[in-house]
Amino acid sequence: MGFDTIIRNGSVVTATDTYTADIAIAKGKISAIGTDLPAQNASRILDASGKLVLPGGIDVHTHLDMPFGGTTSADDFETGTRAAAFGGTTTLIDFAIQYKGQPLRQAFDTWMSKAANKATCDYAFHCIVTDVSGGQLSEMNDLVDEGVTSFKLFMAYPGVFMLDDGSIFKALQNTAKSGALVCMHAENGSAIDVIVQQALAEGKRAPKYHALTRPTTAEAEAVGRAIALAEMAGAPIYIVHLSCNDALEKIREARDRGLPVYAETCPQYLYLSLDNMDAPGFEGAKYVFTPPLREKWHQEKLWQGLKHDHLQVVSTDHCPFCFKEQKEMGRDDFTKIPNGGPGVEHRMSLIFSGGVASGRFNANRFVELVSTTPAKLFGLYPRKGTIAVGSDADLVIFDPKRKHTISAKTHHMRVDYSMFEGIQVTGMPDVVLSRGEVVVEGEKFLGRAGRGEFLRRATYAQVNG
Ligand code: URP
Ligand code: ZN
Ligand code: ZN
Repeated sequence: MGFDTIIRNGSVVTATDTYTADIAIAKGKISAIGTDLPAQNASRILDASGKLVLPGGIDVHTHLDMPFGGTTSADDFETGTRAAAFGGTTTLIDFAIQYKGQPLRQAFDTWMSKAANKATCDYAFHCIVTDVSGGQLSEMNDLVDEGVTSFKLFMAYPGVFMLDDGSIFKALQNTAKSGALVCMHAENGSAIDVIVQQALAEGKRAPKYHALTRPTTAEAEAVGRAIALAEMAGAPIYIVHLSCNDALEKIREARDRGLPVYAETCPQYLYLSLDNMDAPGFEGAKYVFTPPLREKWHQEKLWQGLKHDHLQVVSTDHCPFCFKEQKEMGRDDFTKIPNGGPGVEHRMSLIFSGGVASGRFNANRFVELVSTTPAKLFGLYPRKGTIAVGSDADLVIFDPKRKHTISAKTHHMRVDYSMFEGIQVTGMPDVVLSRGEVVVEGEKFLGRAGRGEFLRRATYAQVNG
């Protein structure tokens, strides 16, 4: 059999195994794994001696080309997927937003056209549902048939995205039947709004008040309520961007009771803290996102949560806004700072560095957190998320020893600052393949806009049920 490409002698790492092997690729798929695979007809041999070969990263939480607070996130589907690829992430799940009164189909069509002709790697969508007063509950089932098998609901941002508990419960009853998965933004938006209004009335307008008006209790309360609603509905639930120990405790308790409850955290909550909000001048605005940064001691609790499977996924919540011009919109009022931060490029290195290179967990757990579990929970497995014959050849030749200092001067995201400026990581991708094509080689980008494909996903129940 002829192969297009062979990756030789790498240390192949999956969620369960580590072994030295060659990987052969034909027609975009992994076609053989073995030792001394014959090179005849292979148009390319990539030497991975001394390197790890990982399944491509899957980031299940990005916001590309997303309108928010009178502006739009700075990366579109071309620049965002390109930056992702530089960091070893070859699949993104972004969010199509249904605005109040709109059919869900409109959200899906809008985001499909944002991504078409732009995405450089494969992508899928969750649908954000902000209104279930019309026919949207049955439209959720239509989207599931289209391969949009997860829905984000908000317990925060009253008047914009927030749903009341009855609507959330109805949506959960719906996914309990369809096998889809609800992703929850869990913060008590009504209480937070009161605290925010009181802070503004007291003249507290600087960026750090964004964090000080969103207490950890507001997150933990909402996580607990979301779990209770899901349990009553008999549905699984996935909590997005979990930021603090109080909320983590709710997840741990629910999982100990055997409930199908899952949660992700993001690199910003593992590396940054409330201290960043004290950056000079208006610089704290660089760290304005929700949930906000927490006191530093929460970081190690989250790392331990990742190690012990109380947290199952690391995503980025990549939602970049430029410091100049975009974050500036809230110079005199923290509530007008667009919420979100950039991160899609550095997730793999930050988690490898802080997780594996620092000795907190092994490389198999790393793969599980950044690729395999995301693929399983969101219906992409086994096409994505592992290294197996028949899976897509989304592969990363990863140098576990290479050091890199993160900086806006060298990153590929279309944003004028880095949240992780000056942090040195150990472990960087050397070569990245998407469906068998080399898309990144060192500093060279070899992919092209429009080559990314929309992924119709199976349901949570089909893969995990
Ligand atoms: O501040 C954030 N996280 N912006 C993105 C939207 C969201 O809630 O995930
Ligand atoms: Zn959110
Ligand atoms: Zn988000």
